[in-house]
Amino acid sequence: MEKTFLMVKPDGVQRNLVGEMVSRFERKGFKLVGAKLMQMSDDMAKTHYDEHQDKPFYGELVEFITSGPVFAMVWEGENVIAIARDMMGKTNPLEAAPGTIRGDYGMTVGKNIIHGSDSPESAEKEINLFFQDNEIKTYSKQDSEWIY
Ligand code: GTP
Ligand code: MG
Repeated sequence: MEKTFLMVKPDGVQRNLVGEMVSRFERKGFKLVGAKLMQMSDDMAKTHYDEHQDKPFYGELVEFITSGPVFAMVWEGENVIAIARDMMGKTNPLEAAPGTIRGDYGMTVGKNIIHGSDSPESAEKEINLFFQDNEIKTYSKQDSEWIY
């Protein structure tokens, strides 16, 4: 089954949105297979955001994501990568539709609450960057036959 990496950013943690973020993906029907509250190192942040290293906001991005704890998660489900991105909404909260996470909670592009992998390749890279194999759990859930 497909997996994606999602992360509540430091603003989401500070604004008490960890529970709400977990709840949204749980209620949708996805399965939580890994999660931890952690502080990203400078090196880790640079690796995570290496695709943006030539952008003018790269320094700000690394500084912000390392400014406080983040809540890193791995979620599993059919088409979870694309569906989670839809649930997050557009990158800039000003353009994100109401009902999406960024539409409901975000105000600025820098502090947009949540990160989500944008492709199978980035999901694999990000899951491996944040989690050891033994931190990802394989289990069946009793509700799966009611979801699929
Ligand atoms: P992520 O899931 O966080 O990767 O968001 P995204 O895939 O929707 O956006 P993208 O990968 O293009 O950019 C990564 C992050 O950089 C965004 O989530 C924003 O927080 C931040 N970002 C993007 N554009 C800007 C910008 O113009 N200014 C600032 N300050 N931050 C930006
Ligand atoms: Mg991105």
